[in-house]
Amino acid sequence: MSAPALEVRALVAGYVPELDILRGVSLEVREHEIVTVLGPNGAGKSTLMKTIAGLVPMRAGTIRLFGTDLPGVAAHRMVRHGLAYVPQVGNVFARLSIEENLAIGACARTDRAAIEEDLARMYALFPRLGERRRQPAGTLSGGERQMVAVARALMARPRVLMLDEPSAGLSPLMVGTLFAKVREVREVRETGLSILVVEQNARAALAVSDRGYVLAEGRERITGDAHALLADPEVGELYLGARRALA
Ligand SMILES: Nc1ncnc2c1ncn2[C@@H]1O[C@H](COP(=O)(O)OP(=O)(O)OP(=O)(O)O)[C@@H](O)[C@H]1O
Ligand SMILES: [Mg+2]
Repeated sequence: MSAPALEVRALVAGYVPELDILRGVSLEVREHEIVTVLGPNGAGKSTLMKTIAGLVPMRAGTIRLFGTDLPGVAAHRMVRHGLAYVPQVGNVFARLSIEENLAIGACARTDRAAIEEDLARMYALFPRLGERRRQPAGTLSGGERQMVAVARALMARPRVLMLDEPSAGLSPLMVGTLFAKVREVREVRETGLSILVVEQNARAALAVSDRGYVLAEGRERITGDAHALLADPEVGELYLGARRALA
């Protein structure tokens, strides 16, 4: 079993003092693992990612990235510690070109030659972005924008990548393409990249994941490897069947 990349223990967090949204969440993402967090709307999935990223204050618990306590690190410095986060909304600079969006992802780096190599790698991974590199990101389709957001995050050379609902608003075909890319993305670093994904699209996300957690009422309710969760009747009833019925 690989070493933990991201470790969250008994995390309590919320936006206003009297209301805890996360009420003792524990989870971990090991090196080179893809882990999905599922849960109903309002369960606290985005809050969990924002708290890990240092954007929501935590009241108790621990968050460690490769053994370093994250709460001491300012949100804008997370990237230097190896953590990249693609939020659920507002994740591209609409007026800037694809190329400029990707350059912003690399702005904390000074290794020019390696940045050029990484850019070429991103355009190889996402050919649609390469073809449109001078186009403003705001003119792209929803799926293409998600790809810009993911590529921009990767330009920082993170060791842990957090994706909040990367498939939101995408057609079923595009969802399949995106998750196939998520698996490819894991291989972009020789050292391996760990990925934490929050998804409503449970079936598609679990299909490319190693493990998963179901978050409900501020805690992780069900934990298991992805195949076990796909076969779990409670998960099936709550998430997989419901999604199918909606689809
Ligand atoms: N900025 C905020 N200020 C106050 N409360 C907030 C804020 N953002 C979220 N919340 C509350 O926190 C709770 C959890 O929201 P969160 O966005 O984490 O849910 P989620 O699991 O990501 O849901 P969804 O599946 O709809 O994205 C909700 O009750 C929400 O109203
Ligand atoms: Mg959310």
